[in-house]
Amino acid sequence: VRAWEVSGAFGLENLVATERPDAEPGPGEVRVRVRAASLNFRDLLMARGRYNPRQPLPFVPCSDGAGVVDAVGAGVTRWKVGDRVCPIFAQSWHAGPPTRELLASTLGGPLDGTLREAMVVPEGALVATPAHLDDVEAATLPCAAVTAWSALAVHGGLKAGETVLVLGTGGVSIFALQIARLFGARVIATSSSDEKAARAVELGAHEVVNYRTHPEWWREVLRLTDGAGVDHVIEVGGAGTFDQSVRALRPGGHMALIGVLAGPAEINLTRMLMMNIRAQGIVVGHRAAFEEMNRALALHGVHPVIDRVFAFDEAPAAFAHLAGAGHLGKVCIRLD
Ligand SMILES: NC(=O)c1ccc[n+]([C@@H]2O[C@H](COP(=O)([O-])OP(=O)(O)OC[C@H]3O[C@@H](n4cnc5c(N)ncnc54)[C@H](OP(=O)(O)O)[C@@H]3O)[C@@H](O)[C@H]2O)c1
Repeated sequence: VRAWEVSGAFGLENLVATERPDAEPGPGEVRVRVRAASLNFRDLLMARGRYNPRQPLPFVPCSDGAGVVDAVGAGVTRWKVGDRVCPIFAQSWHAGPPTRELLASTLGGPLDGTLREAMVVPEGALVATPAHLDDVEAATLPCAAVTAWSALAVHGGLKAGETVLVLGTGGVSIFALQIARLFGARVIATSSSDEKAARAVELGAHEVVNYRTHPEWWREVLRLTDGAGVDHVIEVGGAGTFDQSVRALRPGGHMALIGVLAGPAEINLTRMLMMNIRAQGIVVGHRAAFEEMNRALALHGVHPVIDRVFAFDEAPAAFAHLAGAGHLGKVCIRLD
């Protein structure tokens, strides 16, 4: 089967097309024909060796995908041939708190990922694709959407009427916007671009602050909340946005610590404790959260926001597109 590998050395220039054997599923395993994959910022970091410099090469990148079960091994009870499925990000993390071992079972590094025509996985490492989504749409869910769901629904305890601040308009943030709206929350977004801001408003953001024209964007967020601050922040920037995120929160507010898009910078921890901020590190989420989210997306007919779909042969161009950060929502790859 055709596959893309990071081979020889880290770097996007070492993303190479290759062939891998079409493996048969063993007992308790399922083979999935991958129909679509999607990219996350993590895939860029992984390919460049910045996420895990000890990742053995070669490896197949990408954690996110969707496809169809085309063979099942002995004893498999959860799936049958023809079922539409998505792999879960951490293949062994089904529910409950994570362990170091469970967190080491992630696709796209250390395990081979979804950028290949077929993959064999344990039967427990899949969820059913929501019926209202096509495969490209479903391929966006395993990492970015589950992360946003874990941040707001699992750990955040989000309630109607609360205010959620999402930073930028990348994959995680746009899912957080959509999920926050599902819960009846107000959404304030930030963005580098007025065009993206307009699109974010179309998608349901109540207000958008341009962080280029307002370098001290936290002040705008406080102004928009009559000085109160927001209840939740989807912190995808990391050190470079951390201080402003703390300032934008209400006392006792919740910070979902998710990403590393901006930085490095100095962090003022004192302000955080003086404001009684609750910070929760998020590492995607477990299968139960994925299934819970899928029920909500299906019930409300929510469709992921897709920026652009590339052909399988164009995978390097898809990575370059994500690296260019001109996208809003998800960058996908279709396997025909
Ligand atoms: N912990 C986890 O479980 C988990 C899961 C998924 C992702 N992540 C992390 O979360 C981050 C986002 O991932 P993603 O896949 O959603 O990325 P992405 O789609 O590549 O997001 C890129 C967008 O982020 C915005 N951005 C960039 N720098 C920014 C800044 N300084 N301030 C505000 N916004 C900024 C830009 O949007 P605008 O042009 O609109 O500003 C940019 O287009 C990454 O660091 C990723 O590694 C973590």
